[in-house]
Amino acid sequence: MNITNRYNSFNQVHKGLRAYLYDTALKLQQTDLADAKAGEAAMQQVEEVLVLFESHAHNEDEFFNRPLEETNPEVAKLFEKEHEEDHRLGQVLADLVAQWREEPDDHARAVTGRNLFYAFNEFIAFNLYHMNKEEIELNAALWNAYSDEEIIATEQTLVQQTPPAKMMKYARWMIRGCNTVELTRWLSAVKANAPAEVFFALMHLATDELPAERLRELKAKLEGCHHAAA
Ligand SMILES: [Fe+2]
Repeated sequence: MNITNRYNSFNQVHKGLRAYLYDTALKLQQTDLADAKAGEAAMQQVEEVLVLFESHAHNEDEFFNRPLEETNPEVAKLFEKEHEEDHRLGQVLADLVAQWREEPDDHARAVTGRNLFYAFNEFIAFNLYHMNKEEIELNAALWNAYSDEEIIATEQTLVQQTPPAKMMKYARWMIRGCNTVELTRWLSAVKANAPAEVFFALMHLATDELPAERLRELKAKLEGCHHAAA
């Protein structure tokens, strides 16, 4: 099977989530976690990462793994189990954030901050393996069970039931984490299928996030799509 011919529903959101992991890892490395004020900003970013990963895993379970249980329970349950481990690693991190906030002095914050840094690295390591595995093994099972049209329809249902404010948080990291060809494909589909305000909100984000040259390139490609469709 030529895997590149099939639709990878996880590509863009996983690139966004990886970008968020890498950015947060660097922030943790550059922050003096003994310092209560500087450390708090890093803690808040760790918490935001956990919120997005939790809801992402929940969506994958609800929209992909549970329906797949009917035809391929082995693979579906394997990935549901990995999400349990992911949740456990996230809980370790959340507990360390709470503990860090309670620490009485710089030394105690530095010690707990170091433990938190290692725990975050474990969270990243697990999720990098996990997302690869979803894109290879879970996708293989999904491609076996469903057509690309069915997978795209499931993805659209998933996106539509995500609260807009949360969707915009994913979208900011997807814009930061994807290449221009992927952004063009995604935004031209939004332009064609979603309400105009969704497209404008995403273009506003892209204007915020992309360097001038990439934004120009994106706009030119979207114009091209528009003319091609007209
Ligand atoms: Fe997952």
